[in-house]
Amino acid sequence: MKKYILTVVALVCFLSGWGQETKPRITIIATGGTIAGIAHTPAENAYTPAQLTVETLIRQIPQITHKASVQGLQLCNIASQHMTPGIWVRLASVVDSLFSGDHCDGVVVTHGTDTMEETAFFLDLVNTHENPVVFTGSMRPSNSPGADGPANLYNAVCLAADPAAGAKGVLVVMNEYIFSASGVTKTHTVNPQAFENPDHGPLGTIRGGNAVFYHPCHERPLPEKRFSIAELVYQDLPRVDIVLSYAGATSLLFDTLVENGTEGIVIAGVGHGNYSRQIENSAKKAVRQGIAVVRATRVLKGGVSSDTENTFEGQVVSRSLSPQKARILLMLALTVFREPAEIQHLFDQYP
Ligand code: DGL
Repeated sequence: MKKYILTVVALVCFLSGWGQETKPRITIIATGGTIAGIAHTPAENAYTPAQLTVETLIRQIPQITHKASVQGLQLCNIASQHMTPGIWVRLASVVDSLFSGDHCDGVVVTHGTDTMEETAFFLDLVNTHENPVVFTGSMRPSNSPGADGPANLYNAVCLAADPAAGAKGVLVVMNEYIFSASGVTKTHTVNPQAFENPDHGPLGTIRGGNAVFYHPCHERPLPEKRFSIAELVYQDLPRVDIVLSYAGATSLLFDTLVENGTEGIVIAGVGHGNYSRQIENSAKKAVRQGIAVVRATRVLKGGVSSDTENTFEGQVVSRSLSPQKARILLMLALTVFREPAEIQHLFDQYP
């Protein structure tokens, strides 16, 4: 009799999953990029991005089953130069649903590297969950001799499964470095060491799936969450454009954008956010017309603060945000605010 009871208990435990190590549940949301790319011939550098499915990417890292229970979700399959704000909103809505319904413990997003920093920053601004969200990609296609995608994906899943990665905002893992979405930018066109945080460096490293976060002093307080993805799915994001300044720049592009209905313009200025006199005159006129103008810089480090040359009433400065990230914050800011002082308060959270 005793033997019979022990057998029944063992069977119930097995069926109930008791005693089975419950591994973190990670959802990989694939969007395309080089990590899903295929070289025309393994010896060539030329390749076609966005060819493999998320299932194929998961099959490339079979050892991940020791670290996490993984499921795949194919949001789209594109090269990221074709990424759009509409896909940003869809991605953020899927992430919100996954966490709100307790469908997983962490999320990894595979993405082309060209605009990864933009999608990651958008999600960082609208995601209200503390679960780990980790972006990754690759600089070489999946069938090239030096393919970096499987290692990046393995590390990204291990990081998303690591409780230490929670409540740190959206993270980016590339070439064994961990970056914040707000600070990371692509700094090399072809080398696997293609991402940096020029001003503050990486948050830490991850090697063989083992993450090491540097001293907390690197971490700045996470900005307050001011945007609701639940509302954004029902509206088009305001149109915001970027104008580059350079020696001899005219205001033609700036003026054309104003004439064509832009709601905000980010100036990628020279030096500490400076620009030509023609652009300055057009910027002052645009601000008087109620168009938001943000002064950013094409320079990689230092950002733009308000104590700079030729400032004028109503202008917003980008602080540490690059022009491409200042555009994203301004797009979201304009869904809630119109006063320059209120918009500047949002940018001041990125000193
Ligand atoms: N077309 C580029 C992109 O999808 C390839 C770069 C990459 O993914 O590494 O971003």
